Amino acid sequence: METLLGTDLNHAAALLRAGELVAIPTETVYGLAGNGLREESLRRIFEAKGRPLSNPLILHFASAAHLAGYVRPEAVPAAAHTLLAAFSPGPLTLLLPRELAVVPDMVTAGLPDVAVRIPAHPLLRELLVRLDFPVAAPSANPFGYISPTLPEHVLRQLGGRIPYILDGGACQAGIESTVVGFGPAGEPVVYRPGAISLEMLQAVVPETRLRTSAEKAQRVASPGLLPFHYSPHTPLQLFGPGLVEVPAFDPTVTGALTLRDPVPGLPLNQQVVLSPGRGDLAEAAHGLYAALHRLDGLGLRQLLAERLPQTGLGVALNERLEKAAAR
Ligand code: TXA
Ligand code: MG
Repeated sequence: METLLGTDLNHAAALLRAGELVAIPTETVYGLAGNGLREESLRRIFEAKGRPLSNPLILHFASAAHLAGYVRPEAVPAAAHTLLAAFSPGPLTLLLPRELAVVPDMVTAGLPDVAVRIPAHPLLRELLVRLDFPVAAPSANPFGYISPTLPEHVLRQLGGRIPYILDGGACQAGIESTVVGFGPAGEPVVYRPGAISLEMLQAVVPETRLRTSAEKAQRVASPGLLPFHYSPHTPLQLFGPGLVEVPAFDPTVTGALTLRDPVPGLPLNQQVVLSPGRGDLAEAAHGLYAALHRLDGLGLRQLLAERLPQTGLGVALNERLEKAAAR
């Protein structure tokens, strides 16, 4: 199958209506979209990614009003409305009780909650309003590999397996949405740290918390919980934060990813500094996956990556780095 790249919304919509897959730009990472209500399309998503059926998918909607009919309104906690009002459209995914007769089991891996998100990317929003169904879309990477933030990443990884990539340029946030479920008292619980930090959520709903370790042990409902994910093929080792304890390396076969300054003694063309001189975490998030793609393509034997400050977006970025290193 030939994979075309373009900005033709009519073509993308026609393919999705026909049950085919389309890679879509979002403000976080590129997604691999299919009709979220059609079993055949859902199956194609899992096949194209090589993803186990036990990992549930996110449904993407044009607006919060479009959620009607897919989630059970009487079971939506008040805090969910508050978060939607504050962060949608945007990089927020909510786990809400699904209408069992409408949302296919294959979307949620049989779980009672469905993950829903209202993305902010203008091109994707234009696409969604043309459709009379939500699209299911995991990140458009083969299972376990680095998420794509550029159309070229998708083309390289899934080229030949999907008919069309909707080209929306570079993803602005560069890191996946924050996945938020709800605890026994209706309080928001962060299942996957992402582009909206815990601090930002707490500014709107102060009761928002991370999952307890007991809750984490309870079930592996999120590939975010699998020990490896987002991994380059080249072995990756973490150090820091800071450049004081860089592990010993052979400069001829080593690449490095750092926040503010390059690693001394290593050729600069084997390094990516995410936010030179500034150490800005939003800038680091924007460039993280593209940096991993680039370094992984250099044919080196080892990659070193600096841990980031464990605050704000740094929490989500460190989580991705730990998983990328753990394989
Ligand atoms: O930013 C994003 O969220 C991107 C773009 C394309 O929207 N999508 C994305 O999808 O990252 P994916 O499939 O790569 O990750 C979805 C995460 C996984 O950790 C999955 O386990 C979790 O959301 N998830 C989905 N449905 C769930 C459910 N019903 N219960 C618990 N976790 C769920
Ligand atoms: Mg993913």
